[in-house]
Amino acid sequence: MNDKNAWDIYWQSGHKESCISDSYDALSNTIRNIWIEAAKHLTHKVEILDLATGNGSVPRILSKLCTNTKIIGVDRANVFPLNNEQNSNAIELIPNIDITDLPFSKNRFDLVTSQFGFEYADENLALPQVYKVLKEGGSFRFISHHSNSKIVTMNNRKLYEFKRLFETNGLIDTISQYTLGAATSSQLLEVKQDYMNGQFDKSNQISGQLIKAVDYFISQAPSDTLHTQAKDMIARIHAEQSRIEQMSKASLDENDSKSFKALAKQLGFKDVASKVIEVDQNVIGWLLTGKR
Ligand SMILES: C[S@@+](CC[C@H](N)C(=O)[O-])C[C@H]1O[C@@H](n2cnc3c(N)ncnc32)[C@H](O)[C@@H]1O
Repeated sequence: MNDKNAWDIYWQSGHKESCISDSYDALSNTIRNIWIEAAKHLTHKVEILDLATGNGSVPRILSKLCTNTKIIGVDRANVFPLNNEQNSNAIELIPNIDITDLPFSKNRFDLVTSQFGFEYADENLALPQVYKVLKEGGSFRFISHHSNSKIVTMNNRKLYEFKRLFETNGLIDTISQYTLGAATSSQLLEVKQDYMNGQFDKSNQISGQLIKAVDYFISQAPSDTLHTQAKDMIARIHAEQSRIEQMSKASLDENDSKSFKALAKQLGFKDVASKVIEVDQNVIGWLLTGKR
């Protein structure tokens, strides 16, 4: 499982966004307002490029706010093309594009955006590309992960869950052994009970689903088919672990935000600024802005 595959699986399963959907409304509203603010400064017939777009969360918001605008979203993953979306003729999502090597001509875009995406790439390679494709007077606006944010803290807790699940002879190992006939149902139930008794946070999304899956596996006799089902489920859990590890690594602390700004100024961007985004006194991310 490489970094890209984990996102391929995620976007191909039809998710529309990655960091906001499992959070709360106030967060969605704050983020939406940041894009509304960006749209206010756009006049007519502009072209916007959204980096690391996923399934087009930002293009979908912007296309409803700006008329006469073409929005291209690019992502390294095999993102799922939009269909039947309102305004989708204004949006083009292009998969398999690395933002460190953008296939667009110089001085093309009026605005380059990214929502929890730009920071996943090496900024030393990606920011010069942003400089290249922006028109003079055009600007960038990125919402990036903050290392103290609610999203990152929640993800760090999930990483601990994964660590416990993937322990040798832990719950995942024992499910796999059971489906091969190498562990009994009572052994599997015992491991499940030990896992449930562990004094750490367990999310519904990960532990909750897996605990339910144990009941399903136990209701079936070991077989090749059951083992294949377990392998598929384990691959999906690995993909989720990889995605969350990438999110944690991508997050920026104070020093990272300073280096980002220094790099942007060195490249020639003007009005470079960073601001911590907060919702209900919780840190949510960074807003990084600048002008070509
Ligand atoms: C947290 S998701 C954000 C997706 C979207 N912006 C959203 O808010 O729903 C991060 C995305 O960054 C993409 N990504 C990571 N590294 C990349 C790179 N070097 N070039 C292009 N996309 C990249 C991943 O494939 C993933 O879709």
